[in-house]
Amino acid sequence: MPPLRLAIVGCGAAARACHLTGLPPLNGRVQLTALIDRDPRQAEDALALYRELGGTDAEKVVLATDPAEVPDAFDAAVVVVPHTKHAETVEPLLTAGKHVLLEKPMATSVADARRLAEVAQAHPDTLLAMAHPRRLFPAYAWIRRMIQAGDLGELCRVEWTEGHPYAWEPVSWSMFDRRLAGGGVLTDTASHVFDTLLWWLGPTVEVVDYRDNSLGGVETDATAHLRFGTVDVFAEFSRLRALGISCTVVGTKATATIGTDFPAGECTLTTASGEVLHRGDIDPVAPAQGEWELLFTEQLANFAAACRGQAALHSDAADGVRVVELLQECYQGAARTPWPQPWTTRGTDNAGVTR
Ligand SMILES: NC(=O)c1ccc[n+]([C@@H]2O[C@H](COP(=O)([O-])OP(=O)(O)OC[C@H]3O[C@@H](n4cnc5c(N)ncnc54)[C@H](O)[C@@H]3O)[C@@H](O)[C@H]2O)c1
Repeated sequence: MPPLRLAIVGCGAAARACHLTGLPPLNGRVQLTALIDRDPRQAEDALALYRELGGTDAEKVVLATDPAEVPDAFDAAVVVVPHTKHAETVEPLLTAGKHVLLEKPMATSVADARRLAEVAQAHPDTLLAMAHPRRLFPAYAWIRRMIQAGDLGELCRVEWTEGHPYAWEPVSWSMFDRRLAGGGVLTDTASHVFDTLLWWLGPTVEVVDYRDNSLGGVETDATAHLRFGTVDVFAEFSRLRALGISCTVVGTKATATIGTDFPAGECTLTTASGEVLHRGDIDPVAPAQGEWELLFTEQLANFAAACRGQAALHSDAADGVRVVELLQECYQGAARTPWPQPWTTRGTDNAGVTR
């Protein structure tokens, strides 16, 4: 069977650090055939990296500024453009019959996310997959296995902290300009976390409290209290403060802790009576992967197999919609509370509410 002909749409930081580096082990199964970016320099730089990585048939890869310029060059696309451009980029691809693997979050509004899911459904020959690579982190998969097996008992509480000075280097203003980013740390980081929580705890969730420090720009800090059935989740995110990167899952039988960064650092499993059952790394159990590049290789391999009807997707359009619904409920729902900002004295009260 000939390899799946793949375009990368949006050739910036994530396209290079994640998707291009994940391609080499897929030789023969997935062939890069197009690099597409509004900014031609980004596509050229991505092609140079593809060559450096020893990518096959680099001389045949076409460069374009819009997928519509090269419709015959590819059968499937990984879409890695800024958040607010996801929906307008993906919809024409799906209607043109292309399979799409879409970066997180699926869209920046529930209406856009649901429309993409509907368009995908209306084109049953095309597949819309979500890039939610944390599902392939060994420690995240370990927690899910334990929840499903009942090893933690009845779940009571999850505490999630993820904060460090911002270190990702996008090639454009995609993460800082609200017109491109949609939102800040919640849109960018919590989209991963919310997908994980929904994957672990199921789709029934309410937002009990949400706060962030946006005064019109993208938020750098946010807290969310969510409730999944009877399980309370307390999450805190920061792009500025070194809060640590940890998650604690408390059950009636046992408590598990993991690091939330890859590869997750020291994990622990302690029984309710204090016996330490595990301390240390978690071995990857397929499809989870123990190396960063392999996360994206597995994600692409699964996408390619699913395009051929040979596998179920690790994460699909419905997963993407659920994440966007939760993000939007935080940003716009009734549980949003002003973040105290005592330093904003002019024209505001001490809670940061403009009068
Ligand atoms: N591991 C991960 O899961 C991970 C990590 C970082 C970023 N991301 C996601 O990847 C996506 C892109 O982030 P990034 O850090 O690569 O941003 P970036 O700014 O580095 O790259 C975005 C690229 O898209 C191009 N672009 C903008 N509009 C376009 C359009 N309409 N058509 C074609 N190209 C267009 C820009 O010129 C730029 O080259 C986001 O969805 C982000 O959340 C995922």
